[in-house]
Amino acid sequence: MQAALRYHYGSPDRILVTDYPKPVPKEYEILIKIKATTVNRTDCGVLSGSPYIFRFFVGWPHPRTPILGTDFAGVAEEVGKKVTKFKVGDKVWGFDDNGLPSQAEFMAYREDANLMLIPEGISFKEAAASAEAAHYAINFIKKVTFTPTSRVLVNGATGGIGSAAVQILLHEGREVTATAHSKHVQMIKELGVKKVIPYDKEDFTKTTDRFDIVLDAVGKSTFEKCKPILNEKGVYLSSELGDGIENLYLPLTTSIRGGKRVIFPLPTDIKASLAYIQRLLIAGSFRPVLDRSYPLEKAMEAYTYVAAGKKIGNVILDLENGKEEVFIPS
Ligand SMILES: NC(=O)c1ccc[n+]([C@@H]2O[C@H](COP(=O)([O-])OP(=O)(O)OC[C@H]3O[C@@H](n4cnc5c(N)ncnc54)[C@H](OP(=O)(O)O)[C@@H]3O)[C@@H](O)[C@H]2O)c1
Repeated sequence: MQAALRYHYGSPDRILVTDYPKPVPKEYEILIKIKATTVNRTDCGVLSGSPYIFRFFVGWPHPRTPILGTDFAGVAEEVGKKVTKFKVGDKVWGFDDNGLPSQAEFMAYREDANLMLIPEGISFKEAAASAEAAHYAINFIKKVTFTPTSRVLVNGATGGIGSAAVQILLHEGREVTATAHSKHVQMIKELGVKKVIPYDKEDFTKTTDRFDIVLDAVGKSTFEKCKPILNEKGVYLSSELGDGIENLYLPLTTSIRGGKRVIFPLPTDIKASLAYIQRLLIAGSFRPVLDRSYPLEKAMEAYTYVAAGKKIGNVILDLENGKEEVFIPS
């Protein structure tokens, strides 16, 4: 089978798309024919082995498996003899933030792992794009206690995490303000956000509005800069460690001091996130934003694009049709 491989940690130019032995499912495993998988920011970490501590989960000193990937959507092609929950022909999707050999034509995966049925009417691309960023968005949101009047600002609503976060917050009935580049303001409004601040024209930290929560989904701001727009007991959450890994120690110091504080969530419980997002997909309350797709052979190009930090929502490796397509008008 064809697979996107790297034998050592490094940059996208290490990726080789080549022939690799097709996996044989064990008794509790399902052989999945992969139809779509995303290239996301976690994949970039799995590729580069950075931050370094990540290598203890993904493989040290070398990657545990040469095949890249973290998420997938596909069809059960074969099931091991002890598999009970899935059958041949089931459409399935899943995710593991410590890496999965999913950027390949086939992958074997345990039935009790992070595996779900794709809801009716959801494409393989949409299913694959509903995993990674949505999981992190859910983990940020569940760390905060909301009241019915809580006001939230999402910085970087065009990113994978940001575009998932605004949809989940709106589904939960929160009042959301977001930031995005002016060329994407309309797109974020179409997700249901009433007020979008174009970050290239206005500094959101100078707004006269006040918020109970600032979710810095792209990690481009800081607690210090956001303090003036936070209410007295307001919370700043960031997807990044920040300068001098400040978002690791600020949660402690700010909680001792009282008042405005920082939360840095460590994402857990992928199964719960997938189950939650599946309910939203079925209810029509969540649709992942798709930026573009690449055929598997262009995995190196896809990683280079994603690593630049400019993607809008999600980038797909399309193994169903092998198509290179742009879904977001530039
Ligand atoms: N903590 C965790 O567990 C965890 C897990 C995964 C990822 N991350 C981190 O979380 C961050 C977001 O990940 P992601 O997948 O959502 O990223 P992404 O999809 O690559 O999003 C980046 C987006 O941010 C926009 N952007 C760039 N500069 C901006 C600014 N100054 N203000 C507002 N928007 C801006 C970009 O669009 P334009 O350039 O067109 O504006 C782009 O749409 C990354 O830094 C990633 O490393 C953290």
